[in-house]
Amino acid sequence: MADQATLKLEGKEFNLPVIIGTEDEKAIDINNLRDQTGYVTLDSGYKNTGATQSAITFLDGELGILRYRGYSIEDLAEKATFLEVAYLLIYGELPNQPELAKFEYDIKHRTMVNEDMRKIYDGFPVNAHPMGVMAALFSALTAFYPESLDPNRSPEKVNLTILRSMAKLPTLAAWAYKNSQGHPLNYPKNGLDYCSNFLHMMFALPAEEYKVDPVVADALNKLLILHADHEQNCSTSTVRLVGSSKASLYSAVSAGICALWGPLHGGANQEVIEMLEKIHADGGNVQKWIEKAKDKNDNFRLMGFGHRVYKNFDPRAKIIKKACDDVLKKLGINDPTLEIAQKLEEAALTDPYFIERKLYPNVDFYSGIIYRAIGIPTNMFTVMFAMGRLPGWIAQWKESRENAEPIGRPRQIYTGPKLRPFKSMNQR
Ligand code: CMC
Repeated sequence: MADQATLKLEGKEFNLPVIIGTEDEKAIDINNLRDQTGYVTLDSGYKNTGATQSAITFLDGELGILRYRGYSIEDLAEKATFLEVAYLLIYGELPNQPELAKFEYDIKHRTMVNEDMRKIYDGFPVNAHPMGVMAALFSALTAFYPESLDPNRSPEKVNLTILRSMAKLPTLAAWAYKNSQGHPLNYPKNGLDYCSNFLHMMFALPAEEYKVDPVVADALNKLLILHADHEQNCSTSTVRLVGSSKASLYSAVSAGICALWGPLHGGANQEVIEMLEKIHADGGNVQKWIEKAKDKNDNFRLMGFGHRVYKNFDPRAKIIKKACDDVLKKLGINDPTLEIAQKLEEAALTDPYFIERKLYPNVDFYSGIIYRAIGIPTNMFTVMFAMGRLPGWIAQWKESRENAEPIGRPRQIYTGPKLRPFKSMNQR
């Protein structure tokens, strides 16, 4: 196998080292390209650019493989708890019993947020989107825990910030929802596990005993695991990039929340359910919407379809589709949007437009139907994605800081005007 690549430019030859990953992923190392040649590479959307070497997640888009730290997503979704997976991603190995018990304890005992922070909620309009509220409040954690700002922080301080992040995000998320309902906020209940505690903060009503349905808590556990990391996607790259300036973990994650919000990324799960509802309300003519998605003069896209890296199937979507069937059956729910989703999938998978472009259902296609079945309101879907993705963001931020990666600062090719003289107002 080649151990270097040769580049011919302006009559000269340059040798570039080749890097091979543990799963045989190949890269041409261009770290010194500009110094050697004066050229940069151009790759909009970073479709061919490896931004880092990472030991966290392995993904093969052609074969539909996703592994966290070497463990298959199928195994983890079936057998692990979300906090076990979070520990694995952040610290590199699965925890043993005492390690997991300590991790759970350390998180449970940090779920409260400062009462002054609670007052900030009062400043938001009730119809504020919870993603915006959450991004603002997560960044505001720096104000309450200023030691997180120290660029030369000790490992102990970093770990404290990690535990606080894991502990407080569900509280901030549930409160964003409660605030949007004009309801009183529920305090965390530390006797409950991570998922059950979140459900309690979301759904408990005053003067009523709220019992967490284990089917619902299990479904949530699985969904959070499936979202926990996905290597260098848009939000994760954002987290690493913000972290590279030595900004605090809270600020980096807040930026990740904003990046995730867009409809081409995590925001797609909200868009999918809205699309399915629209198709249902429109009479359920699936073929009409497939034609709209194919029409280049129509800006409608089949939300929850297609992926930058999966070109065969999205392994997460496979697991979620089955979980969706199971959850709806167990809860005795008959959701007409599930039927529409299944028909859309069937129609798209046999249509040459989708086959040629390798467009398959992605993680967001069925997740919204499960979220709806377990009572999560539509504008909270992307918030759920963020809760799941948090350990991945943390792990990636931590890895990038531990590897002392340099500040991220891409180059560009300038296409604007050349130098021209300034003209005063009466000359223009
Ligand atoms: N519906 C119809 N056509 C599509 C779709 C779609 N959902 N996705 C891609 N295409 C077409 C696109 O028009 C283009 O066609 P052509 O070659 O004729 O111009 C071709 O397929 C390639 O698309 P692209 O936009 O160049 O591909 P990309 O890799 O830049 O974008 C994507 C990937 C996920 C942004 C895109 O597939 C999309 O917009 N999907 C819908 C939004 C969505 O579900 N996003 C969630 C992604 S999974 C969650 C996550 O990890 O973020």
